[in-house]
Amino acid sequence: MTPHSLSRRDMLKMSALGAAALALPFERIVRAKSISRIASSKLPRPFTVPFAVPPVAELVKSDATTDFYQMTMRQKKIEILPGIGTTIFGYDGIAPGPTIRATQGRQVVVRHINGLPAKHPSLGYTPWTSVHLHGSASLPQYDGYASDITNPGQYKDYVYPNIQPARSLWYHDHGVGHTAENAYMGLAGSYVLTDPVEKALPLPTGRYDVPLVIADKMFAENGELMYDDASHSGLWGDVILVNGRPWPRMAVERRKYRFRILNASLSRGYRYRLSTGEPMTVIATDGGLMSAPQQVSEIRHGMAERYDIVVDFAKYEIGQRVVLQNLGVKNSTDYDTTKQIMAFDVTAEPTDGTNNDVPGVLDPTPSAMDLTPAMATANRKLEVIRSNGQWSVNGVTWEDVVKSDYTKVIGNPKADAVEIWDVTNRSGGWFHPVHIHLVDFQILSRNGAAPRPEERGPKDVVYVGENETVKLIMKFEHRTGRYMVHCHNLPHEDHDMMTQFEVGSGGPDPVTAAPAKPLSAATPL
Ligand code: C2O
Ligand code: CU
Ligand code: CU
Repeated sequence: MTPHSLSRRDMLKMSALGAAALALPFERIVRAKSISRIASSKLPRPFTVPFAVPPVAELVKSDATTDFYQMTMRQKKIEILPGIGTTIFGYDGIAPGPTIRATQGRQVVVRHINGLPAKHPSLGYTPWTSVHLHGSASLPQYDGYASDITNPGQYKDYVYPNIQPARSLWYHDHGVGHTAENAYMGLAGSYVLTDPVEKALPLPTGRYDVPLVIADKMFAENGELMYDDASHSGLWGDVILVNGRPWPRMAVERRKYRFRILNASLSRGYRYRLSTGEPMTVIATDGGLMSAPQQVSEIRHGMAERYDIVVDFAKYEIGQRVVLQNLGVKNSTDYDTTKQIMAFDVTAEPTDGTNNDVPGVLDPTPSAMDLTPAMATANRKLEVIRSNGQWSVNGVTWEDVVKSDYTKVIGNPKADAVEIWDVTNRSGGWFHPVHIHLVDFQILSRNGAAPRPEERGPKDVVYVGENETVKLIMKFEHRTGRYMVHCHNLPHEDHDMMTQFEVGSGGPDPVTAAPAKPLSAATPL
């Protein structure tokens, strides 16, 4: 049997505990809850752990057109809480994974090897994977299509075109039915794409251009990560990690820094504020540079969204501490410990005063921000729904897509068509960050009003708040084929708020065009 012929339920049954978990979903939850949380005395005091950035991925080789990388997903016991061992899944055994730096016009190939164990150590499922480069217009067979799985002992070479404008992307697991657990275990990393437009700007660069991958976790008494998604409603941890470090402290110079903030949490939304009350300058969103920077005192950040901000520490004296705080959002369970994220301690005068500006015009080139409703040739309605304990989009689940042999689609935009999509959440009890693969979109409105200032750039995830309808406009360019659209609250996505659309016709099949191969068959890159 190939994964193509298996339904998600069939695949779950392939793992010993998968079948039991399906029959008795409640049992698994009780099991998680019966393990007690680690004593708060074992958590570090905020701002005592030093900040660090993930290492840059090491190039295997490069030729005239392409840079080649290789990463092995590994289970590893590492120290996250001081003095305590925690088992993670990491790309190359680290979480977040190595940062890939790419340049527009140069292709990247990543060989992703699934070196994970045959079973998850506590949940018992088989950790098959599918790697998605979120923010990339990749071909369907390299897009991390959920059912295009790589089992432990297999590998897959992913091809990334890097044809889009500069942006902060991220790669993360998307394996069908277990995306949430795999991502929670640490399968996520940054991928930074630059281009000549961005390089010509005097924005902070080099060591002043810093990724902040934010994720919340909960730890059990034995130091292991606890997975409790409250009947698939969400997982809200009490420990905030930035680049894998709990509430870290970063020493900064008196100058501007660019922070590429990624919310890599499964279910937690954030609302950032600087403890000094000073504004933050938003310069880029999911799809890259905004046309013009936006000054904001708060940023609302849903899962998988990226906001690049510039903070100017020249305003502060040496010795001053600036805390990145979280005011919280509705329907994210907050704890006292989740009210703060990290601290910046101003410790020195700048050692480099160049690239220390945010110009008033950032990106004058055409983008999703230049699309107008008059260009649209179709208007589709998507509704994110919960009924009978099941999440869906328009009543369709990924299982329905699997059962249709991957033919069922929510819509079939023509190649290069501009469309308006209205996404509606009628519930007051949930928010859903909805992600559309392949495209960059512009948020035209939220409940008829203008989007928030930080959202006025190209996006690929939109925060669909309680009782909201957001209106999006996008162009289905670059590719034909089938791509997913789903909620990025990953327990929702896995159970089963995910469907797909097809651009044009005759595109490559995401499951069969480039299937994973056994590692024993691999030839060197
Ligand atoms: Cu970041 Cu389909 O996901
Ligand atoms: Cu994506
Ligand atoms: Cu959701």
